[in-house]
Amino acid sequence: MVVGAGSGIGRALVSELIGEGAAVAAVDLRADQAQAVAEEAQQKVGMGIGVAGTGISGAGQVIGLGADITDRAAVRRALEDVVLAYGGLDHVVVTAGYYPSPDEHGNVADEEWGKTFAINVTGPFLVADEAWRVWQAQGELDGSLVITTSVNAVVPKAWSFAYDTSKAAANHLVRELAVAFAPLVRVNGVAPATVLEGSSMFPRERVIASLAKYGLPHDAAESTEVLRDRLAEFYAKRTLTGRPITLADQVKAIAALLGGGFSKTTGQIVNIDGGLAAAFLR
Ligand SMILES: NC(=O)c1ccc[n+]([C@@H]2O[C@H](COP(=O)([O-])OP(=O)(O)OC[C@H]3O[C@@H](n4cnc5c(N)ncnc54)[C@H](O)[C@@H]3O)[C@@H](O)[C@H]2O)c1
Repeated sequence: MVVGAGSGIGRALVSELIGEGAAVAAVDLRADQAQAVAEEAQQKVGMGIGVAGTGISGAGQVIGLGADITDRAAVRRALEDVVLAYGGLDHVVVTAGYYPSPDEHGNVADEEWGKTFAINVTGPFLVADEAWRVWQAQGELDGSLVITTSVNAVVPKAWSFAYDTSKAAANHLVRELAVAFAPLVRVNGVAPATVLEGSSMFPRERVIASLAKYGLPHDAAESTEVLRDRLAEFYAKRTLTGRPITLADQVKAIAALLGGGFSKTTGQIVNIDGGLAAAFLR
């Protein structure tokens, strides 16, 4: 189950997972968007049945569902639908997130502060807590939970109080859930940085504000895509690996955490940030 599947990292993850043969539930606040992503992914990857022992692997299948992660009853309903559709639950990934856009003075309204914590902290907790009921009922399994946090959780920035502190809380939520759910379910975090590709977190105004902040050229006639690429290149140059961070970078890491390669790793936050010394372990 991928929650936040309607856009960005979650959307790309759905294709990646069904490409690997998984049965996926694409869940988002916007039910129509979740369904559109499900259909798009299925068309792109196709369907098919793998044949054990032959090396022939088939694509998986996907359903699209609507749920607001800040609403426990809605989360429970979505999980019930997943169990009805597939007969159980293995992995859950929460990519849903919210970045409150500050006003021209860098402030966010108090309601925006509350909304940020509701989506970035309470939401993943409610998903984890409800999924835990399913996992416990199933008993022994090799399931795992991945929550996307952010390098902002450890790298302080000016005027990003609500988002950054919410992500710091999400990092600790990962650790607490890992302790609580052991040994049944592994819990890890992925901390992305600046994936402008496909993200609704970087609308045109935010991109222009950032280009202005860093003294980079920007013209009203330029397309959002061109402006985004310029900002992505700028961010890339600040990293140790020097290249823009892509959706593929994020989804490959999340898929790896779900798979057998990390079967003895829990309670960890993996940074997929191009290498930022400021975000090194502390
Ligand atoms: N893109 C980046 O540069 C970046 C950097 C650091 C961290 N992150 C984190 O990675 C995650 C994914 O980012 P993205 O760029 O794919 O974002 P995105 O905005 O493109 O996608 C997030 C999805 O979450 C959904 N969502 C929002 N509120 C929801 C709710 N209450 N219930 C259910 N779904 C809800 C949205 O509808 C959207 O489809 C987020 O947690 C984000 O904070 C992203």
